[in-house]
Amino acid sequence: MNIIKLKNEIEVAQKAAEIIENQIKINNFSVLGLATGSSPILTYENLIKSYKKGEISFANVKTFNLDEYKGLQPTHPQSYRYFMNEKLFNHIDINIKNTFVPEGVNNVNPEAYDQLIKDKGGIDLQLLGLGVNGHIGFNEPGTSFDSLTSEVDLAKETIEVNSKKFFNGDLSEVPTKAYSMGLKSIMNSKKILLIATGSSKAEAIHALVNSEISENWPCTVLRNHNNVTIVIDEEAGKLI
Ligand code: GLP
Repeated sequence: MNIIKLKNEIEVAQKAAEIIENQIKINNFSVLGLATGSSPILTYENLIKSYKKGEISFANVKTFNLDEYKGLQPTHPQSYRYFMNEKLFNHIDINIKNTFVPEGVNNVNPEAYDQLIKDKGGIDLQLLGLGVNGHIGFNEPGTSFDSLTSEVDLAKETIEVNSKKFFNGDLSEVPTKAYSMGLKSIMNSKKILLIATGSSKAEAIHALVNSEISENWPCTVLRNHNNVTIVIDEEAGKLI
């Protein structure tokens, strides 16, 4: 595991964007795995800037998102499809037909998602955030390392954190279930890039790097992968 510790979230986002851009420059037909949450927002802003400067094109890129809330329409402002359109896709030259996010309401078919990824050539580079409890995607503690894309229950902690960040603190608004790529789906990616910033992630980063590989900390599965880069700031890395 390659660990890059930087000063703050600005530097983390620059580094993450640079790694993603390099992937596209190496192969402009790359298949990217993308993440939502607050962590990747600045990274996406940097990608948009590079696109606007003419440094990269997404015209041939395909993307697969990790997860989606069960029950939220793609037009719902807190749905991950809406997030991706707003934070990235609407601002770049990607063909929206080449962007895939698990369906939250209509045409729900999580079991077909892994096959679709395979059919498109597999994920070249998967971007990940990190839950405070060590979840990746929506794979909460206790998830099997053999899991594929499926319907999942969100942990109480995740519902609380996401209600504060995205649902104006209204717990009742946060779906309790989601569709998420599984840990095995994530591990099938050729390269993985995890980003984390802020002290709330310090314990999970410590577990990722130092704890026994176990389903109690889903992120520890990444230690079984041979091409993982984690980019963190000083705060997230303060326990390692
Ligand atoms: C969310 C998402 C994850 C994300 C994580 C961290 O619930 N499902 O994909 O990585 O939790 O979120 P944030 O970046 O907002 O801290």
